[in-house]
Amino acid sequence: MLVPATAGAVPDDSFPVAGAFMRWVQLIAPRLHGSANGRASGRLLAVTRLDGQLGFSGVGPSQCEAGGTHAAVRTAGWEWPHLLVQSVDAAPALSDRQAAAGLVAELTADDFATADVGLTPHGRNCIDLVRVNGPQGPRRRQALENDALILFSGGARGIGALCAAALARETRARMLVVGRTAMSPADPDWASGAVGRALRASAIAYLRQAGSEPALRQIEALCRSVEAEREVRDAMAQLQACSPSVEYLTADVADGAVLATKLAAATARLGPVTAIVHAAGVLADRRIEDVQAADVNLIFRPKIGGLRNLLNAVNRDRLTRLALFSSTAACFGNEGQAVYAMANEVLNKYAFGLARELPAARVLALDWGPWHAGMVTDEIADRFLARGIALLPPEAGCAAFLDLFLDDTPGAYQFVIGDGPKNLAGPVESRAMTEASIRGIA
Ligand SMILES: NC(=O)c1ccc[n+]([C@@H]2O[C@H](COP(=O)([O-])OP(=O)(O)OC[C@H]3O[C@@H](n4cnc5c(N)ncnc54)[C@H](OP(=O)(O)O)[C@@H]3O)[C@@H](O)[C@H]2O)c1
Repeated sequence: MLVPATAGAVPDDSFPVAGAFMRWVQLIAPRLHGSANGRASGRLLAVTRLDGQLGFSGVGPSQCEAGGTHAAVRTAGWEWPHLLVQSVDAAPALSDRQAAAGLVAELTADDFATADVGLTPHGRNCIDLVRVNGPQGPRRRQALENDALILFSGGARGIGALCAAALARETRARMLVVGRTAMSPADPDWASGAVGRALRASAIAYLRQAGSEPALRQIEALCRSVEAEREVRDAMAQLQACSPSVEYLTADVADGAVLATKLAAATARLGPVTAIVHAAGVLADRRIEDVQAADVNLIFRPKIGGLRNLLNAVNRDRLTRLALFSSTAACFGNEGQAVYAMANEVLNKYAFGLARELPAARVLALDWGPWHAGMVTDEIADRFLARGIALLPPEAGCAAFLDLFLDDTPGAYQFVIGDGPKNLAGPVESRAMTEASIRGIA
C-alpha cells in the first residue's frame, strides 16, 4: 500500500510526488512479483487525499500531481497482470481514523472491483464513463470572440498541427504557435530536396565533409532536425494560408523565462491571449522497473511544467478556453507508459482545478486514444492494432477537437476520444467519444 505525500507549494519545474511515487513502486515491485504464483494475489493500492472525488471537484496544483499517481497504478495493473490495483482518494473532511476504516473496507472487499474509489463523509464515489455524441453529433460550434488570440503549444507538429490547421480553416483565428524546432526559411543546401534514404546519404556526406566519421546517432539527429523544420514550415504555411495573423514562437515551454519574454513581446503587439491549447508533449516509454528519475523530468517538464509556464505567462483573467492534450493512457493506464500516464492524469486533474479558478472559462482535458499521426509511428500503430485498439483517423480527431473546443459552455470537462485498452465503445470504434465524471456508488 502506497500513500503519496501531498506536498505544499512546489517550484514550477519540480515534480517531487511523481518521482517519489515511482521510486516507491519500484521498491515494492519485487515483493509484489514474489506473491504472484500466477494468480491475482498481490494488491497495489494508491491512496490520496484530494477531495474524495478523485480530483473531479477541482484541487490545487500539488494535489493534481498526487492525483497523477492513480494512472501509474492503473499501468502497474497492465504490466503485472497478477496484481489487483486500486486507487482510493479519501476526502480531507474524513478524519484519519475514518479514512483508515474506509481503506480497510476497500482492501477487504471481496471483489476489489472498482478500480478508483473516492471516499467522503457522505459515501463512496467512482468515475463514470458515459458515451456521448461523436464528432458528427449535434454539439454547436460557436464563433470565437472577435479579439480571440489562441496560444497553441505543439501546434506546428504532430496532432497539434492537424488540430491547429482545422481550427484555422474553421475560424481564421489569430494564433501564437509554440515549439522548440527552429523556423528556418528553407532546407540547408546539403539536404535540399532529399527525403528518406537520400536525406540520410546526404547527411553522411555532409558530416564527413565537416571532418568526422559520423555515428548513426549523429546522422539520425541531423536528419530528424531537418524533417522537424520541414514539418514546422509546412504547418505554418498551412496556418498562414487560412488565417491572416498566425505567428510561430521558437521556445521550450519548459523554460518559463524565455517563454514569458517571447510571449510578452507578442502580446504587446497583438493583445492578450484569450485561449490556450496545450499539446506539447514527449514520449519516453519504459516498463515501471526500468523508469529512471530523468524520465519523470523529461515527460513532466513539457506537459506539466509547460502548462504552469503558459499559465504564468498570460493574463489568466482573459482566458475563455483551455484545452489540454491528454491521453487514454491516463484514464486506463498503458503498458510501458507509467510516467507518461501519470503526467497526462495530472493534466486531467488540472483541468478541474483550473475551472475552479476560472469559472467563466471552458476547460477541456482531451484524453486522446492513439491517432494515426504524430508520435504514433508506424511501429507503435502496429502494436496498437495488434492489441485490437483502433487508431483515430485524423479527420475524426480534428472534428472532435473543433466540436469540443468551439462549444462555449463554461466548466471543466474530461473527454476520452478514440479507442483505448478497454475498448470503450464495446465493438472497436475509433470515433467513440466518452465523457468522464464522478458519481456516487453504494
Ligand atoms: N498522437 C497520438 O495518438 C496522441 C494520443 C494521445 C495523446 N497525445 C498527446 O498529444 C500531444 C501531441 O502529440 P503528437 O502525437 O502530436 O506528438 P509529436 O508529433 O511528437 O508532437 C509533439 C509536439 O509537442 C511539441 N513539444 C514537445 N516538447 C516541447 C517543449 N518542451 N516545448 C514546446 N513544444 C514542445 C513538439 O514541437 P517541437 O518538437 O518543435 O518542440 C510537437 O509540436 C502530446 O501532448 C501527446 O501526449 C497524442
